[in-house]
Amino acid sequence: MAVVAVRYSEGFDRYQRFGDTDIWPEYNLHGDVANQFWSRLYEEFAEYQFVLYDDETDEVLGEGHTIPLAWDGTPEGLPPGIDASIQASFKLRASNGNATALCAMAAEIPVRNRNRRLAAVILEQMASIARSAGLAWLIAPVRPNWKHRYPLTPIERYITWVRPDGEPFDPWIRVHTRMGATIAAPIAQSMRITGSVADWESWTGMEFPESGEYVFPEGLSTLSIDRHGNVGSYWEPNVWVVHTL
Ligand SMILES: CC(C)(COP(=O)(O)OP(=O)(O)OC[C@H]1O[C@@H](n2cnc3c(N)ncnc32)[C@H](O)[C@@H]1OP(=O)(O)O)[C@@H](O)C(=O)NCCC(=O)NCCS
Repeated sequence: MAVVAVRYSEGFDRYQRFGDTDIWPEYNLHGDVANQFWSRLYEEFAEYQFVLYDDETDEVLGEGHTIPLAWDGTPEGLPPGIDASIQASFKLRASNGNATALCAMAAEIPVRNRNRRLAAVILEQMASIARSAGLAWLIAPVRPNWKHRYPLTPIERYITWVRPDGEPFDPWIRVHTRMGATIAAPIAQSMRITGSVADWESWTGMEFPESGEYVFPEGLSTLSIDRHGNVGSYWEPNVWVVHTL
C-alpha cells in the first residue's frame, strides 16, 4: 500500500470520505467561529485542504486542513487561537495580503485508522504544501490528544509534562516535536463553543441540573453552565507549535 495525498483543488471530492463524528466528539462540531467559516475552506482555500488515501483500496485514511496566515515569526505575533487564526486568514485573503506561514486547522484520522503512524504523514504533507507555497513556517494550534484525560489541569501546566525519556507527555505534541517543531505558547482560550443547556445535554449525553462548572466526556477543559441564561460555554485550550521549514 502507498499513502497518497490529493488536494481538494485536485478533486479530492471523488473519494468516499468519512463522517465528522468518526473524528470529533459531537460537541467539537459546534465551534462558534469555526462553523461560520468551515465550508468556505473548500471554496476559498481548496489548495490547502487534502485527503490521504490508500492507492490500492482507494480508502481515505485521513484529512488535513490548513490556511495561510501572515505571521511575523515572534511568539507575541501568534494569533490568540484557532478562532482568531481562521478570521485572520479570511481577512488576509479579502485584502490580498501576503501570507508567510501555513496554519494547521485540523489533522483528522478516523478512529479506525488511528495508531498507524499516519499523524506524521499528515504533518509532512502540510509542510510540503507550505513549502510549495513559499511559506517559511508551518504553525499549529495543537489540540493535545490526551488533554481530555486531565480536564482540570491548566494547559500551561499540561504542556510542560514530559515522559522519563524527556519527550512530551502528550502523544500528538510528541509527533510535532519529533519532526523538529518547538512548543511556542499555551492557548487557554482557542476555540469557543456555546450552545443552550439542551444543546450541551444532547452533545454530551449528560444532564446539567444546576449552574456551575462541569467535567464532561472528552472535554479538554470544563463546561460552564448558566441555567438562568440557558447557555453553556466552553473554551477549548490548544498549544501553539512552530515548524520552521
Ligand atoms: C491527533 C491524531 C491526528 C493523531 O493520530 P493517531 O493515529 O492517533 O497517531 P499516530 O498513530 O500517528 O501516533 C502518534 C502517537 O500517538 C500514539 N497513539 C496513537 N494512538 C494511541 C492510543 N490509542 N493510545 C496510546 N497512544 C496512542 C502513538 O503511539 C504515537 O506516539 P509514539 O510515537 O510516542 O508511540 C488523531 O488522534 C485524530 O485524528 N484525533 C482527533 C482529531 C484531532 O484532535 N486532531 C488534532 C487537531 S490539532
